[in-house]
Amino acid sequence: MAVINMEDARKNVSRVGFLDIELDPTLDLFLEIERLKKEKNAIILAHYYQEPDIQDVADYIGDSLGLAQQAEKTQADIIVFAGVHFMAETAKILNPSKKVLLPDLNAGCSLADSAPADLFRAFKEQHPNHIVISYINCTADIKALSDIICTSSNAEKIIESVPVDQPIIFAPDKNLGAYLNKKTGRNMVLWNGACMVHEIFSLEKITKLKVRHPEAKLIAHPECEDPLLRIADFIGSTTQLLKYTQQDSAKEFIVATETGILHQMQKSSPEKTFIPAPPDNSCACNDCPHMKLNTLEKLYLCMEYETPEITMDEALRIASKKPIDRMLEISKAAGLGG
Ligand code: 13P
Ligand code: SF4
Repeated sequence: MAVINMEDARKNVSRVGFLDIELDPTLDLFLEIERLKKEKNAIILAHYYQEPDIQDVADYIGDSLGLAQQAEKTQADIIVFAGVHFMAETAKILNPSKKVLLPDLNAGCSLADSAPADLFRAFKEQHPNHIVISYINCTADIKALSDIICTSSNAEKIIESVPVDQPIIFAPDKNLGAYLNKKTGRNMVLWNGACMVHEIFSLEKITKLKVRHPEAKLIAHPECEDPLLRIADFIGSTTQLLKYTQQDSAKEFIVATETGILHQMQKSSPEKTFIPAPPDNSCACNDCPHMKLNTLEKLYLCMEYETPEITMDEALRIASKKPIDRMLEISKAAGLGG
């Protein structure tokens, strides 16, 4: 039985987030989480940007497409989503009857925040004959205003499924949108949003790093800005980047995405060296502050107390499910995902 020691451990405790509960530091959280999984028939889905401890207790670790696909097919009663709000919300959209928990409800996303629904609705009205393809990193309100959702691993296929003469609005990531315009030869109208983590890399520092590590391959997420993508050896979603490091013969990689992914890269290729791409500031970190709000302690508490829970208005859920279903159908037909 789990022990939340409120009385005895006053001097040696850590206060954990939303519940303002003092957690007994002698508790083996790994064992407790395993116990709770079994007792509650719960599954933990984690994104690669989560802290290593969370990745190590997860039942499935993946990119946004893989996570949505797992959420769609799980038989568990409770989905514990170790990721950010739009990911857990997507799981709820696909599973209205299941309980979906997010360890910290404040785990948002700067990219999703860059597209407020009222402004986007007005933008859409200015482009009446366009269909909307939205990156999954957006709110349910934006999804409900979209025709098809995509992720970084299926975006090209999704765009190719649309007739070439059909004008498209792409939202909310302008960097991913510009990259896709180049790749597909389309001229999609781009919403002016971006991810704070992927815009922080310093081209100058990366160039210097490449001089010191001439054999290293530079691999980058397509949310990065164009000048960086131009010098990258490989561009892909988190899962695609991980696979590339497993299959490529290079021994060193400079990784231009959130640092959480390095845990799986290092685990599956211990003989290789992974260097986080340096950011354009004095702090040597490119962690996503939203992703990193989740901790093992919060994960344990949210499983124990079954809160915070994602809840949704049913009309919004139904409207936002349509473009996600379309994405999942196209991905399945193309054999994409995990
Ligand atoms: P993917 O894992 O789908 O590549 O997305 C990266 C990301 O920024 C998630 O927030
Ligand atoms: Fe959002 Fe960027 Fe964080 Fe992903 S890494 S959750 S896109 S802010």
